[in-house]
Amino acid sequence: MMITRVFSGIQPTGTLHIGNYFGAVRNWAAMQHDLECIICIVDYHAITIDVDPKTLRQASLNMAMDLIASGIDPEKTILFVQSDVPEHTELAWILGCVTSFGDLSRMTQFKDKSSREAFISSGLFTYPVLQAADILLYLADGVPVGEDQVQHLELSRRIARRFNSRFGETFPEPEPVVGKKGGRIMSLSDPTAKMSKSSGEAHYVGVMEAETSIRKKVRSAVTDMGLESGDAMSPGVANLFEILELSTEATGEADLVDTLRADFAAGTLMYSKLKDTVFEQLMEILRPIQQKRAKLEASGEVLELLRFGAEKAQTIAQDTIVQVRSVVGLGTANP
Ligand code: TYM
Repeated sequence: MMITRVFSGIQPTGTLHIGNYFGAVRNWAAMQHDLECIICIVDYHAITIDVDPKTLRQASLNMAMDLIASGIDPEKTILFVQSDVPEHTELAWILGCVTSFGDLSRMTQFKDKSSREAFISSGLFTYPVLQAADILLYLADGVPVGEDQVQHLELSRRIARRFNSRFGETFPEPEPVVGKKGGRIMSLSDPTAKMSKSSGEAHYVGVMEAETSIRKKVRSAVTDMGLESGDAMSPGVANLFEILELSTEATGEADLVDTLRADFAAGTLMYSKLKDTVFEQLMEILRPIQQKRAKLEASGEVLELLRFGAEKAQTIAQDTIVQVRSVVGLGTANP
């Protein structure tokens, strides 16, 4: 199937890390030249767990600036904050009525997240329905994400299918689009777990993090965990190589990877050299992003950009909602 319109989302809480960047954001930035791209900062999703209302709005604005600094061009991409387009919640309710309890019970992210919460909200349980609504509201056919979102997207497809079979062909079935590389960047301090904002400072590298702190984290990345057999590469070393490959793709220094891989194969690789190279190549990418971010903050234009994005998003969203209300038989305004 040809993909023409893509939709993706990111939570505003916590910092943007290099897992988000390599797994998702960099792909969004690359796609925006050829496809219609809609990127949403998902604050309704963020409140499924306990967040501080005093910081949430600022977190959404910060995430918008992080994304723009990382290459999302608000002239090309429709970039907006989810709750500025409340149609998301209306569609979520309707889709919830064609989503099975059993399907939601099988979501591994719910099992993970709920095991960490003292209060488990029903919003956390129905989170994937809102995610399906996000995508289907824009009739998106492609969803560029990291690997951890694939199960949610399979459910989005099932929901679209069930809606279409009950009410008539309305939604395309959205395809997950996961990059060949970078779909699952692992934690530096525990390379058997994915890099995530929720596991704590030591586990991730923030895109906007200070250089000294990034150096320290990369230098102390776990390499050997006593898991090697023969000359197999440990998960930590493989992760560092993956980050290096992704970084050098952008810096044009791919031969550095070849040299270090050859050292590894020969059994002469010094991990300190690998780590220093990872750090230097990563900073080549992050430094300009950090500089752009500082300028954006100073310009104060993000609010205006988000308002512009929300208006464009809402135009599409309203058309879909009118259609959905009509086929489901809701309200009195539709014929
Ligand atoms: P979130 O905010 O956790 O992550 C945003 C994007 O970053 C990707 N990602 C990673 N990729 C590679 N390696 C990692 N370690 C890593 N960690 C995160 C995620 O796969 C994601 O693409 N539920 C979503 C937000 C969402 C959404 C949507 C996404 C809401 N509605 C509709 C797509 C379509 C989430 O919490 O992403």
